[in-house]
Amino acid sequence: MGETAQPVTMDTIVSLCRRRGFVFPSSEIYGGLGSTYDYGHYGVLTKNNIRSLWFRAMVQERDDIVALDSAIILNPRVWEASGHVAGFTDPLIDCRTCKLRFRADQLELARCGRKPSKRPGETPDCDLTEPRQFNLMFETHVGALQDESSAAFLRPETAQGIFINFKNVAQLARRKPPFGIAQVGKSFRNEITPGNFLFRVREFEQMEMEFFVPPADAAEWFEYWLDQRLAWHRGLGLSESNLRLREHSADERSHYSIATSDIEYLYPIGWQELEGVANRGDYDLTQHTEHSGTKLEWMDPDGNRYTPHVIEPAVSIERIFVALLCDAYHEEVVGDRERVVLRLHPEVSPVKAAILPLVPRDEGMATRARALYEELRRHHVVEHDDSGQIGRRYRRQDEIGTPWAFTVDDQTLEDETVTVRDRDTLAQERLPIGGVREWLDDALQRDWSSPQSG
Ligand code: GAP
Repeated sequence: MGETAQPVTMDTIVSLCRRRGFVFPSSEIYGGLGSTYDYGHYGVLTKNNIRSLWFRAMVQERDDIVALDSAIILNPRVWEASGHVAGFTDPLIDCRTCKLRFRADQLELARCGRKPSKRPGETPDCDLTEPRQFNLMFETHVGALQDESSAAFLRPETAQGIFINFKNVAQLARRKPPFGIAQVGKSFRNEITPGNFLFRVREFEQMEMEFFVPPADAAEWFEYWLDQRLAWHRGLGLSESNLRLREHSADERSHYSIATSDIEYLYPIGWQELEGVANRGDYDLTQHTEHSGTKLEWMDPDGNRYTPHVIEPAVSIERIFVALLCDAYHEEVVGDRERVVLRLHPEVSPVKAAILPLVPRDEGMATRARALYEELRRHHVVEHDDSGQIGRRYRRQDEIGTPWAFTVDDQTLEDETVTVRDRDTLAQERLPIGGVREWLDDALQRDWSSPQSG
């Protein structure tokens, strides 16, 4: 097996996603809508896997974190208290000539509307305004009236839904600090320089956890969560060499942050934030206490009251999805054929196994393959494929990252065994057809690391 050593580009990933139905540009038949995407079958399955792996690690396997699902549209005063109305802005510059709008802090990445080979400001025709602050929240209206009194926002982060429920959860879930509240859900930002596929989109699914701790312990818990989250990404199979930590400098930190570090991934567009871990101090609970009049604090058994500090790991499914696909994508030469293979962690792979009758016209093979498929599909997402040559069927599965294929062939008719083909090593072994279910269960439990990881 020979690896073709081209680094993967974002275009390659976009094209694979489109070709294999993972992701489509949204509203495509109407010309699309900037930086919004729709997920097809394999995209949905992959996202479901990422979400449930996060939930398993952050809630199911812990005693100190509980789940929450808050509303997307909250009382608009939430966003005044949180600082988003005043401060969730990007500095923007307009060009009076080409009528495009650019982020002032990213002009070097932007392209002039008339001469895309130039940067805005580089041609004599460019007529740029001074930077102006532009709020990233999407505004909407609640109720029948469409005036200022009914204005509301689509949430730009899930975190605030957690802070405003602190009292409810702390009382009813019978938890005391240190404890966390985890939430997964859509967030919306009117990003002005979106692009780079799913990396920066206007609608994305955040997975955030707010961990409430005694103030004196915050620095320690911050380090703990950085380690935990980095280990989680490594566990998904992301290569060690493509992950790093980067601490924010004081002038880069958000208004609420005492300390922030990003877990960065080496995307095809360079090192970028995959997940942020922030020490938010008591900023949010204090702000909501002041604005709502409801005390969001904790009383310890000695009667001492305090406002817990918050450590927040926050990531989107989209950023993980792109990182996983980039890391997993390989082009190889096998024999005299090229194959594209997605070496995804089996727990992330959208389809866990394919069941392939070697000669679909052969009734014995067809019946056995169908029966095996019916049995396995009750437990795992598996596919039955009986169209085309066997080599082509294997390659279709390689491209979507299916870790194993079970082939029903001539020998099956003699001894009731099937071959299992391993996506990564291409090794084949024979198994009794009756033992396939157990074999697959075991295989999915085994540790996995990419043959390429380093
Ligand atoms: N509650 C804190 C917060 O929202 P953030 O750094 O703005 O902090 C957290 O966002 C995470 O959400 C990021 O690390 C990234 O994974 C993801 N994210 C943010 N904006 C995104 C966008 N426009 N598209 C995709 N993912 C995004």
